[in-house]
Amino acid sequence: MTAADMKLRDQRIVLLGGTSGIGLATARAALAVGASVIVVSSNAERVADAVNGLGERTTGYTVDLKEQSAVRGLFEQIGPFDHLVYSAGDSLQTGALAGMDLDTVRQVFDVRVFGAIAAVKHGAPYLRPGGSVVLTSGVASLRPQRGWVALAGACSAMEGLARALAVELAPVRVNLVSPGLVRTPLWANLPDADREALFAASGEALPVGYVAGADDLAHAYLYLMTNRYITGQTVAVDGGGVLV
Ligand SMILES: NC(=O)c1ccc[n+]([C@@H]2O[C@H](COP(=O)([O-])OP(=O)(O)OC[C@H]3O[C@@H](n4cnc5c(N)ncnc54)[C@H](OP(=O)(O)O)[C@@H]3O)[C@@H](O)[C@H]2O)c1
Repeated sequence: MTAADMKLRDQRIVLLGGTSGIGLATARAALAVGASVIVVSSNAERVADAVNGLGERTTGYTVDLKEQSAVRGLFEQIGPFDHLVYSAGDSLQTGALAGMDLDTVRQVFDVRVFGAIAAVKHGAPYLRPGGSVVLTSGVASLRPQRGWVALAGACSAMEGLARALAVELAPVRVNLVSPGLVRTPLWANLPDADREALFAASGEALPVGYVAGADDLAHAYLYLMTNRYITGQTVAVDGGGVLV
């Protein structure tokens, strides 16, 4: 455990989207350095599985982060805490804008952007002194592919939002992690063979030579929670993907 990690001992960390993938790995990493975690997502079974799997010092809540009143109620129940991590995101909606209706575009923003705004609005008043917020986007904002207009827009929105919140909520620090491709259940909808082909080809093309696991991302969230001199920044954890 590093001196920086020690700063999370006995801290209370709320992870919205903490029952799967990047959020779950961050919860595990935070527990390993002595924090207590509160994991939240919309599916009760997934919440129960995460709480059972994470073990001691873990609490879970089932909340649809699209529902503002439920988000407000969640923070009223949780009370004071130290760090807010937002990594909730529903299944990927890709496709050319010409064939995508605007309701679908709005849906892409619902959990990823408006859910995050609601979480910060209703969660920030409960942050203890020295607390921070770590949000999530994706390198689609920097390196969009065809069919990723809505997702790239949502990712870019999050980056501007993090900077503006860092100014508005100061001295609370607000930062953002921008993942490249990560092996998580987010990709579960792809047929197994297609998914493995995607990971193999993408990994080979990356400077680091492999596709990230969720643990690779968790370090970045812990770093942004513990480094007291960083705010308003986006940390890309993409294996060098934007370079190639
Ligand atoms: N994996 C990647 O390759 C990658 C790359 C770039 C960016 N990202 C972004 O990083 C974030 C995390 O991705 P991940 O890979 O960790 O995905 P994941 O494994 O699918 O986890 C997403 C989490 O969000 C929760 N969630 C979804 N809709 C929700 C809702 N309405 N209310 C509450 N919780 C909700 C899910 O739980 P429930 O289903 O129980 O609600 C789950 O806990 C997403 O925003 C994703 O777009 C991921």
